[in-house]
Amino acid sequence: MRLEEHPILNFCRGPEVTITFNGQSLLAYEGETVAAALHAAGVYHLSDSHNLHRPRGLFCAIGQCSSCMMVVDGRPNVKICITKVRDGMTVANQKGKGDLGWYEKK
Ligand code: FES
Repeated sequence: MRLEEHPILNFCRGPEVTITFNGQSLLAYEGETVAAALHAAGVYHLSDSHNLHRPRGLFCAIGQCSSCMMVVDGRPNVKICITKVRDGMTVANQKGKGDLGWYEKK
C-alpha cells in the first residue's frame, strides 16, 4: 500500500521502474527506497537473524540497525531502507551473513 494523499505533505512520485524480488517483478517508483517498494507490495520479511534464523523486517528505517539487509544485484548486506530503487534491480532475501567473499571477488 502506498499513500496517495496526505493532509500536509505533497507526494512527487517519480516514473515507474521495475525491480525483481526473488524472481518476481514488482512495480516501484524512481526515488523511493527498496524497502518502500517491497512494503508497498506486501513484502515484510526481509532477512533472517544470523544465529537463530528468525525473520527480520524493517526496524529503524534509517540505516542504523542492519535489520533490513538483503542481496541487491548479487551484492550481500545491502541496507535496503536507505537504498533507492533502480530499473532492472534484482533483490533477494538474505540468509545469515551472506556471501562475505563477494567483496573480495570484486
Ligand atoms: S531497517 Fe534498520 S538499517 Fe534498515
